[in-house]
Amino acid sequence: MNILAIETSCDETAAAVITAERRVLSSVVLSQDEVHAPYGGVVPELASRQHLRSIGYIVAESLRRASLTTADIDVFAVTQGPGLIGSLLVGLSFAKGLAYYHRKPLLGIDHLEAHMESAFMESPEIPFPALALLVSGGHTSLFHLKKRLHFRLLGRTRDDAAGEALDKIAKFLDLGYPGGPVIEQLSAGGDPERFAFALPRMKDRSLDFSFSGLKTAALRWIGETKMSGCHALLPDFLASFEASVVRALLENVARAIEKLRPASLILCGGVARNKRLRADFGELARASGLGAFIPSPQLCTDNAAMVAALAAEKMKGRKKPPLSLDLDAYPRFSLATGGPGKGRGRGASIRPSGGRGGGRSRRV
Ligand code: KG4
Ligand code: ZN
Repeated sequence: MNILAIETSCDETAAAVITAERRVLSSVVLSQDEVHAPYGGVVPELASRQHLRSIGYIVAESLRRASLTTADIDVFAVTQGPGLIGSLLVGLSFAKGLAYYHRKPLLGIDHLEAHMESAFMESPEIPFPALALLVSGGHTSLFHLKKRLHFRLLGRTRDDAAGEALDKIAKFLDLGYPGGPVIEQLSAGGDPERFAFALPRMKDRSLDFSFSGLKTAALRWIGETKMSGCHALLPDFLASFEASVVRALLENVARAIEKLRPASLILCGGVARNKRLRADFGELARASGLGAFIPSPQLCTDNAAMVAALAAEKMKGRKKPPLSLDLDAYPRFSLATGGPGKGRGRGASIRPSGGRGGGRSRRV
């Protein structure tokens, strides 16, 4: 069985082909970074237009690299949400067209669940129960995984996502987009203790995250020191900010470990590419006597292979999944806001826009 998956939830147009045995035959990702860089963040309208331009080519390329044609595909899968509505609709409509033409099943996949799946692609035997920290440009969430495909949300960000905070500070200093990798590069060799950032504390002792306070503190430092792209203390400043974001993330993970005594730890999402986060996460796992499972960097940022892998997992034991041409995109609702499974029927997953709700609307 061959599965073709499409991912267009934000600013990467991606397609991948995988077998039922989870062998990745191809994975193609086209980033839109250059399109959005002049604006310092993702411009939703430009993102959907760019997906429209690229989707046909990217799907064709994924098939070419897998030495297959659409007629060889048994199941189509597509990211249903959360994400930018215009971007999601491009992928969803394209996938529906393929499924309808070939009369083949179509599976809707949750983007956050797919990020978590990326850890299982390289390490299928992760011990349960596991804690998964998902850190991306649109989400920062902590999940408790009881077993395969069964998880519970423990905490999520109440304001900015960690990647969003990094992107915004980089934008403010005119350093480039996306901000996470730029900050990582420019902070190399900087002193992470030079600038003191107070870590956020939830008054209710919940496992939620918050990054707006750190961002405000960073903006204050920028004002006070007249920080700029060519300031002598820039590496120290960026190293201190990045380290404080990492500390804020790991403090919550440490508290969750104490509370839930998991058997292993998972780190995923675009920010999981960050070397400091990967190293400190590994260190926390070691100190807690737990295994740390962190996908390779190319599997951390948005890609369709993780969507295909999750579709393969969901297909296990299912004889004939539905054609599902009435799948809806859900821009805001997700595991991160509604809990696994809740409201996930056809159409029921659509939530009115408005309010932050963990949706990915990284506007400039
Ligand atoms: O998962 P992803 O590709 O897209 C979303 O689902 O949001 O994550 C993108 C985020 C951006 O905020 C970007 O700045 C961040 O991941 N990122 C990094 C690094 N590479 C990407 N953050 C810190 N260090 C990196 N090396
Ligand atoms: Zn993502």
